[in-house]
Amino acid sequence: MKVRKAIIPAAGMGTRFLPATKSMPKEMLPIVDKPVLQFVLEEAAESGIEDVLIITGRGKQAIENHFDYNPDLEHFLRNAGKTELAERVRDIGERLRIHYIRQKEQLGLGDAIRLGRDHVGSEPFAVLLGDTIIDPPAGQKPGLQQLLDAFEQVRSSIVAVHRVPREWVSRYGIVEGDPEPFDPNLLRLRRLVEKPAPAEAPSDLAIAGRYVFKPEIFGCLETTPRGVGGEIQLTDAMNQLALDEPVFALAWQARRFDIGNRLEYAKCFVEFALRRPDTGPALRAYIEELLSGGAAGLV
Ligand code: G1P
Repeated sequence: MKVRKAIIPAAGMGTRFLPATKSMPKEMLPIVDKPVLQFVLEEAAESGIEDVLIITGRGKQAIENHFDYNPDLEHFLRNAGKTELAERVRDIGERLRIHYIRQKEQLGLGDAIRLGRDHVGSEPFAVLLGDTIIDPPAGQKPGLQQLLDAFEQVRSSIVAVHRVPREWVSRYGIVEGDPEPFDPNLLRLRRLVEKPAPAEAPSDLAIAGRYVFKPEIFGCLETTPRGVGGEIQLTDAMNQLALDEPVFALAWQARRFDIGNRLEYAKCFVEFALRRPDTGPALRAYIEELLSGGAAGLV
């Protein structure tokens, strides 16, 4: 049951980030100097994934360019004596086999995953949303690795979930299930609801952008009608799957930054910049001065 392949949907329009996303995919927004999507691919590689299929769309060429070699840039950097930076730039796409498919029409997440059917074939596979950074507590395994460990245990399709404030439930897929006696963080799912109104949400456990599926999900996606927002919803296909076989959720402690949300993006940028030795100390001093009404913000 070794999971070798992952699908990374990155085809959304990114309208909440216009005008920045008029000519740049939201997945390429930087967290200091690294695009969000590079964090996602690194998580996949560190979790043992060998092969990824990125679902792109119109205007997403920057993604392919980023994970490709750039001989002119490398040559320039080497000539300028910046060998270490040249190596780092070259290494970006080396750790995984990367493939691309374009989603021609914006028919939703379920449709994007369905496009991966021929590539994945009949093996289990992971899904990592390209606009989500998972940040486990220090010392813990990468997010996807935690989910793959749980998949090994239950040998059924499984999705990561985390608790969200009630007023946020309408942004996410929300799950309802029964905790397993041997591990209360594992829930056998009864129902998933995509973006419910707070009064209709069956819980406050939101789908966190990481999934591991058995290939049977593709059969469900073939017959999933359009749902919320007129889109083919992955959660609807999972409901169908749960009628035929067990489907689980893992409630984990990892933080999740939803980069599709402006405030979450800003928080992620600041938090990661504060952690880095090159930017952290000076940024901390700057923020402290700014918040105490000092001169830093006025110069
Ligand atoms: C998608 C899924 C939703 C999930 C969310 C996580 O929604 O449909 O179930 O909770 O990702 O980010 P989207 O953010 O594409 O609207």
